[in-house]
Amino acid sequence: MAEKKKMSVAEILAAARAAKAGGGAIPTDAPPPNEPAALPPAAQPASEAAEPPKPAKPAAPKPSAPGGRPSVAEIMAQARAKKAAESGNEAVAPAAQPVAEAKPAVAKAVASKPTAAKPAAKTPAASAQRDTASILAAARSGTKPGPVSKADAPVRPSLPKAPALTKTAAPAAAKVAGAAADKSAPSLPPKPVRTAAKKGTADTEDRRGFLEMTLGSFMALGFTALSMTGGLWTLGLARFMFPNVLAEPPSRFKVGFREGFPAGKVETKFVAQFGVWVVNSDVGGLQQIYALKTVCTHLGCTPNWLEAEQKFKCPCHGSGFYKDGVNFEGPAPRPLERYSIRLADDGQLEVDKSRTFHEELGQWADPDSFIMV
Ligand code: FES
Repeated sequence: MAEKKKMSVAEILAAARAAKAGGGAIPTDAPPPNEPAALPPAAQPASEAAEPPKPAKPAAPKPSAPGGRPSVAEIMAQARAKKAAESGNEAVAPAAQPVAEAKPAVAKAVASKPTAAKPAAKTPAASAQRDTASILAAARSGTKPGPVSKADAPVRPSLPKAPALTKTAAPAAAKVAGAAADKSAPSLPPKPVRTAAKKGTADTEDRRGFLEMTLGSFMALGFTALSMTGGLWTLGLARFMFPNVLAEPPSRFKVGFREGFPAGKVETKFVAQFGVWVVNSDVGGLQQIYALKTVCTHLGCTPNWLEAEQKFKCPCHGSGFYKDGVNFEGPAPRPLERYSIRLADDGQLEVDKSRTFHEELGQWADPDSFIMV
């Protein structure tokens, strides 16, 4: 009787299903479920039954009619009352075995997921606290009821957490992992880690330096150009204030004593400095000393005295002049001109270029145009 009193709820359910499947009604005078000896043969293990038990349809517990068979709910209530009266730990644990024998579908489901069955067997108190409706529903549908609460959930072994990799240790860890994965691959040196903050700071400094250099260059160029312009304007103003002075030779100058000019002599040493020939020659039967202007009457070139030919020859267009200055060849239209000459107080001959005498105008007869020898 002690074994009969230890029937679990599963056994009671299996007996109820077997009775329902067999069509037999549970007599009202049937012994209570805690007396399995009075149960019909269907209460035997399911493995020995003629056909496997079908999952019962979920139906709401109905109150049994007076004199009728008790419903499943009533049977469950009786079982709970009995289980509460008994010492639960000893009565519930062995009940798992008959369930596996009476209901192969449930046993199969439980056996397929041993991880979920273990906590229920180890913690009978927790399993006793499960909702009976969920257990029944799971048994009817052939699936394992899940944990009702968080405490029922199987405890999974927690994996050790990997140590956090720092930025500096990351390349080394990557290098070690790469070497472990493929030892044949050549190991590359770790790349230097450049933080984003430093990179942004460097870029900002580069842009600032570029702007400063560009603006500084433009400003320096502008100030340089302004300084150069001011300097040039200052030099121009100074040049305007102090113009060039043309140092012309004096128009009146002394050429020496008359003894220094022999008859028939053409002195050419004053051509470069004063532009004048001093000649001592016979003009119209009179021996005179006169000063000829060294400018060709054609277009203003300077003729050359040719001692061998005793003439003045212009190199520009070939005009020729005698020793007295009269033109005789070339395009020159008139004779050479004379400067005024006089005997100075000191006995020297003095030439005055401010006055000229033209032969075609009859001015060579003027006594200021010659000195009698
Ligand atoms: Fe002397 Fe023309 S300038 S000949």
